[in-house]
Amino acid sequence: MTSVGFSGQEVDAAPVVTVVGSYDVLSRRAADVVADVIARHPRGAITVPTGSTPLGMYQELLRRIEAGRLDVSGIHIFCLDDYLGRAPDDEASLTGWLREAFLVPAGIPEAHVHYIPTTAPDPDVAARQYEEEIRAAGGLELAVVGLGPNGHVAFNEPGSRPDSRTRVVKLTEESREQNAAYYEGGVQIPEHAITMGLGTILEARRLLMIVSGASKADIVRRALAGPVTPEVPGSLLRLAGERLEVLLDAEAASALHR
Ligand code: PGA
Repeated sequence: MTSVGFSGQEVDAAPVVTVVGSYDVLSRRAADVVADVIARHPRGAITVPTGSTPLGMYQELLRRIEAGRLDVSGIHIFCLDDYLGRAPDDEASLTGWLREAFLVPAGIPEAHVHYIPTTAPDPDVAARQYEEEIRAAGGLELAVVGLGPNGHVAFNEPGSRPDSRTRVVKLTEESREQNAAYYEGGVQIPEHAITMGLGTILEARRLLMIVSGASKADIVRRALAGPVTPEVPGSLLRLAGERLEVLLDAEAASALHR
């Protein structure tokens, strides 16, 4: 893979891209990375995504926790993104989704979950405080992210800068439609969200991007083999060089060598 950085700058090393045969294998490999980081840093801070892609990873992590093979009691979870104005315990929030899919069944202590400040009186100030919280926790040991159909990473939509920080953003119609599909019964998706910034994510000591399915094949090609550009926020993660591992199933990887 070519190793080209932002603005034509060379980055030191290329990401590690692994293509696996199936979604199940992808989920197990992703769980391996999370478990490895937790084993090395049992009190470390990690951020993990919502959406359909990570569900298998969460199920696998829950299996390991239930079997006593993984201890998550010391880790700190920082949420990646959520809708502005929607409380974390609202089922129609992303954090509500994450609580149900993983945080609650995993028994992550409530005091170790760092919520996106979606209901703060001054969200801009609260977003800066969220960055402070990440620093106070020692920085992110691991950032697990997905890749949106429009190339977004967390809610860093096309046009986001590689040095962006946690902030209020306006969602694209495409992302709002994508997210509406996560909930039954026609939930309204707010126009704004708060997202961890690309700069924040890029500072994690290890990054894992997981992408599954044929519908993502074209955006995977643009993110991994096209120019490194804010137009495809996923491409900016390549600035992390070999700190970034990308796990793809065969369908998501299918346009890479066309
Ligand atoms: P998905 O979302 O896992 O539901 O495809 C990925 C994303 O938008 O980051």
